[in-house]
Amino acid sequence: MAFPESRPRRLRRTPQIRNLVAETSLEPGNLILPLFIEEGLSGRRPITAMPGVDRLGLDELAAEAQVIKALGLGGVLLFGIPERKDLRGSGAYDDRGIVQQAIGELKRAVPETLVIADVCLCEYTSHGHCGVLDGDQVDNDQSLPLIARAAKSLAAAGADIVAPSDMMDGRVAAIRAELDKAGLSNTPIASYAVKYSSAFYGPFRDAADSTPAFGDRRGYQMDFRNAEEALREADADLEEGADMLIVKPGMPYLDILHRVKTEFGVPTFSYNVSGEYSMLKAAVNAGLLDERAAVLESLIGFRRAGADAIITYSAKDAAAWLLSL
Ligand code: PBG
Repeated sequence: MAFPESRPRRLRRTPQIRNLVAETSLEPGNLILPLFIEEGLSGRRPITAMPGVDRLGLDELAAEAQVIKALGLGGVLLFGIPERKDLRGSGAYDDRGIVQQAIGELKRAVPETLVIADVCLCEYTSHGHCGVLDGDQVDNDQSLPLIARAAKSLAAAGADIVAPSDMMDGRVAAIRAELDKAGLSNTPIASYAVKYSSAFYGPFRDAADSTPAFGDRRGYQMDFRNAEEALREADADLEEGADMLIVKPGMPYLDILHRVKTEFGVPTFSYNVSGEYSMLKAAVNAGLLDERAAVLESLIGFRRAGADAIITYSAKDAAAWLLSL
């Protein structure tokens, strides 16, 4: 059937018809909110590079957990800013570390809060790299036991899911083995299998105080010219025992998200990263974009491309809009 019998506009005529035939849904439960928890901080401290996002002290977490519950968010993803850093990132696998404590606070306040712990050394190393150094290189195999220890410590502290973001080869297998040995065989791994070296992480490094002291991360994070390699990374992580996959960044990588979801069909999250958030905020603050419309359209875009959930700094705002609060 062709025009004039066929008229696609018939299905766009009223909001009710449009809702009936909409292919994609978005709910607060699809959204995961990253939280930055700063050791020694009491209250909140705004992150200059990310207007509207604060670092939180431990004393803020009970109230934050209540808000997250009221909004029905899917969960939180935790990052820590420790008081002290060292060459081997020991704060990451300290059972009394800042994120380990934060998990306790959140779970005490609202036990059903779904807590995902980011697993990486970069916030805890004095040099800001995601593993330990051998000269000016990040040593893959020496980093693995430390990353696995961090995952175990976070899972033991009560994290529901651990999410390694370091991009060392073999870390999913190392984490799975360490968790299983510790009796934590029910803790899922959401692997940042596909993490590109990206300019869009700029504001995060200010937020989490994790800028590399020298060089960059191109020796371990993926080259953004590659897509086939993303499928090999995802395949390798699933072979090693990943339960879920994360594709990062978000908006410039929807093609990768779609291919990963289509190829493997496992739960797949997209990370709408700091630079994407700050870029949109800047346009909103300059009066160039309608924030609500632009954020919801972007989030639907992730869902349409195949994301089961989206990690986004806009999670609370978006949930409130979806609930029409
Ligand atoms: C590193 C990590 C980074 C982000 C999440 N985990 C930064 C990096 O790789 O440099 C970036 C997230 C964002 O930009 O929102 N463990």
